[in-house]
Formats: sequence, C-alpha cells, structure tokens
Amino acid sequence: MNGLKFFLAMASLCMVGFIGLPKDKEELKLSEHSIIPKPLEVTEGEGVFTFKEGTGYQLIGEADDLNYALDFFKDFAQKSMGIKLDQKENGKIQISMDDSRAAESYELNINPNGIKVTAADGQGLFYAFQTIRQLLPADAEKGRGNGFSIPAGKINDKPEYEYRGVMLDVSRHFFPVEDVKSLIDQVAKYKVNKLHLHLSDDQGWRIEIKSWPNLTKIGGSTQVGGGDGGYYTQEDYKDIVAYAASKFITVIPEIDMPGHTNAVLASYGEFNPGVELPETGRVPVDRKALGVDGEDSNASDLYTGIKVGFSTLDTKKEITYEFIEDVIREIAEITPGPYFHIGGDESLVTELEDYKPFIERAQALVTKYGKTSIGWDEIAHADLEEGTIAQFWAKEKNIKLAADQGNKIIMSPSKHIYLDMKYDTTTRIGHTWAGLIEIDQSYNWNPTQLVEGVGKELILGVEAPLWTESVENRDDIEYMVFPRITALAEIGWTPQSLRKFDNYKNRLRTHMKRWDAMGINYYKSPLLEK
Ligand code: ACM
Repeated sequence: MNGLKFFLAMASLCMVGFIGLPKDKEELKLSEHSIIPKPLEVTEGEGVFTFKEGTGYQLIGEADDLNYALDFFKDFAQKSMGIKLDQKENGKIQISMDDSRAAESYELNINPNGIKVTAADGQGLFYAFQTIRQLLPADAEKGRGNGFSIPAGKINDKPEYEYRGVMLDVSRHFFPVEDVKSLIDQVAKYKVNKLHLHLSDDQGWRIEIKSWPNLTKIGGSTQVGGGDGGYYTQEDYKDIVAYAASKFITVIPEIDMPGHTNAVLASYGEFNPGVELPETGRVPVDRKALGVDGEDSNASDLYTGIKVGFSTLDTKKEITYEFIEDVIREIAEITPGPYFHIGGDESLVTELEDYKPFIERAQALVTKYGKTSIGWDEIAHADLEEGTIAQFWAKEKNIKLAADQGNKIIMSPSKHIYLDMKYDTTTRIGHTWAGLIEIDQSYNWNPTQLVEGVGKELILGVEAPLWTESVENRDDIEYMVFPRITALAEIGWTPQSLRKFDNYKNRLRTHMKRWDAMGINYYKSPLLEK
C-alpha cells in the first residue's frame, strides 16, 4: 500500500469510527438525557461535571429524613463509582435545604466545578439524587468504577400530583418481604411515593392480627392454585414500612371489606352469613393440621380459585364491627402513614342497604384510629366523610358520586394502568377483561380527562395496581410492572403538556439498558424496536 492509500484507508476508518459512535457513548447534552419521569424544566450549560474520589459534599440547612437521602447517595456513589462521599468544607456537591419550595421539589445546577442541589425536603433531595443517577451511564448500575461525567445545566423539578402509587396484591399470591423490598427499590427510582398493599382477599389473609389469630393460621394458609400461602408478622410489616420510608414511600394497608372476605369466613364462622363458594377451588379447612383447636361448623371452606364477588361479612352482627375495629386498630398502630384502605369493591352479595351503613361504620373506625379512609370507587354509594378518598378503577358514575360529595379521587383506570392485564395476546400471564395494555395504552391517558367534571383540583393522584391471580414470583412481578410503571410515574409527576408518547418511548429504550444492567425481567415491547 502506498502512502496516500494508507492515509485514505486510515482516514475512512476514523470517519466510520466517528460516525458509528453509539449515541450513548457521545457526550449527551442535559436535555438529551432520558430522565423518567420527564423533569419540569431543563436548561443547557457548558461542559461536564466529573465524579472523582474526593468529590465530597457540603450541607446547608436541615430537614426531616435528610439522612435517608444522603445515605442513599453515599451508598450509590460507593457501589457504582467507588467514591467515598464525605461531608467536607470544599465539597463539590453543595446541598441547600429550602422549605419555601413546593414539597418534594428540587433544583440541580450542574457546572464543571461542582453541583448545587437545592431541595424542599429530604424527599426532594432523594429525587435530585435519583435524577443524577439517571444522568450516569447504565454501567453505573453495575458498579463500573469512577470518572463518570454528567453534562452541565440546570434542572428545576416538582411533581404534578402528590400521590403516585403502585399496588401489590399479596393475597392472591403471597410474596416474601424481600420481594416487596425489591419492588420498593425499583419504583422509588421513578419517584413513586406510595405502596398500597392489598393484604386480604378471598384467597388469603396476609397480616398477623394478634387478637384474631386464626386469620393467619387458617386464612393465611393457602393461595390461588393451592400451596402454602403465607403472611407477614407484625414485625415483618413494620420492617417493610420502615424500608419503604427510607425510600420516601408511604405504605397504605388495605383490608378489603365487606366483600372479598372468604379468608375471614374460613377462619371465623361467626362472621359468615352463609356464603356460597364457587364449585371449583374449594378446600376444606383441616383445623388440626393447621394447629387450630375445636370445630367451627359455620366457617366456610378455603378458596383457591379466581372468581370474585361471592363473599361478604355478616354486616348485621355487632361482633363483625368489633372484629373490624380490632383489625383497624392493630394495623393503624403499626402504620405511620396517614391512610387506611377499606376496599369496598365488588361486594356483589351484600345488599346495598347493608353495604352503605357498613362502609360508613368502617370509615368512622378508621377515623377513630387517626387515619384517612381510601376505598374503591363503589364506596361512593355511602355517605363519605370529609377527606375520605375514592379510588377510580371501574365506574365513572361512582366517581361522580364521590366528587359530588366533595371527596378526592385517586385515578387507577383499569383499561390503562391495571398491571395484571396482558400486553398483547401472547403474554404468558395476566388477564384481558380490561383489554390489552401495551406500553402506549399505559402512557396515553390524562387523569383530568377520565371522568367528566373531575379536574385537577379533585385528583389526589394516580396508582397502578398489580393483582396477582396469575403472578407467582418476583420475575412475574417485574415482567408485569416494567415498563408500565414508568408510564404511571410520568403521568403522576410530569405536567400533561410535556408528555408525548414518542419522546417517552425514546427515553424508555435507555432505561431498558439500565434494567439489563440491574437484571430486571422487563417486557421487551415490539413498540420499542421501531
Ligand atoms: C378491583 O379491581 N376489584 C378494584
């Protein structure tokens, strides 16, 4: 090869190399980064800030729960970049707390010499750190050393809705504490701040109630399809609640009533008005094998099928109210968050004249123990107390009833954000009764456009429920939750005017790499291949 040919060959190799450089290896501008949920305002700057050993931080001001945010980032910096982030006088990350800002809000000012973080509260600081985390390459999730850079610029960010939740049904299938903590870790990254635990249903009672021990001995002994079931001791539950709090997630316990209660009726016959179980899925209670003395001829069989709407507590007996008071009291005592979910859905065998006073008494008991009631949209048939929240899942007319009473709403439209629906007809698990929910269907909805007359001022926020009739383990949970939870997170956080599906879809591709790095079993939508 002569000199000129050699030069041309090398030059074209360089060109190919340059042109072919993958986008994520180039230096992206701040606004080109794939942050989910999309921040409110992003302004470009010049240059990059590089994390190095000795970066350090300075802290100005105080706030509750600040240490949860600091501990999270120190731990992340250590694991992902090998950096020990200490507080020091000339630290490059300058953190100022400013409680005049909107709750949960933060601002990041990134320049080559340092990062200024201003946050309203510990939660805002935690979210500022989650944003920085997303500015780092996916490799950071694997712990690939230091020297990572993030682009200069400014991000000013705050949530659109205060309630951004995910629900896990631990009744149809039971999940160990570690699986719940893993879900908490995964959703906290996307600024989700509520975990609603559906703790009781026909198939299983999942929380220890010291004054009514058969609930877990009998009611917790099985699950959909049979098998062992399980339950959380009160210590387990406290552990979940504390872990969630360290990620700024409030746990909302749900005891579904007066329907969806067969596990109660199998445990204590005195609440059973004589319900008829479906033909298949009945399992006689072997009291001796479960360590329960004596007989209970009025108790129902256990149920391992998936039909709904056949059970009810006996709403006419005073003992029923003594029972629900004990349950509400014991759970309220170990729940620091402000909410208690009373269920109230699909009580198809409870007469309306019995259902209404039952819901009113349940609400009063929740208030007595210092909590605010949430219930599925059917509860709006009752007189709602001021502050009680109705959760939309099925009927717009129920939500109108709640809104007419001046009560606030959580939006969980089943045809958009029920995480147990299949993505397409080939999805291995899940259901189709609310439709197929591909990633566009989970993203393309606006909370203020769901129910006529219910605008932003009446909407507390949004929640994505995962019912688990067909969901059996952590892999199944991840498959149904990811990527759809990121749609929920963005709908809850980002103003509608900034949300566009095509733009979200492009950002999601980057998150797939992060999930690969973290080993998350997510659904690979064909819509992301185009
Ligand atoms: C529900 O899906 N039954 C609230």
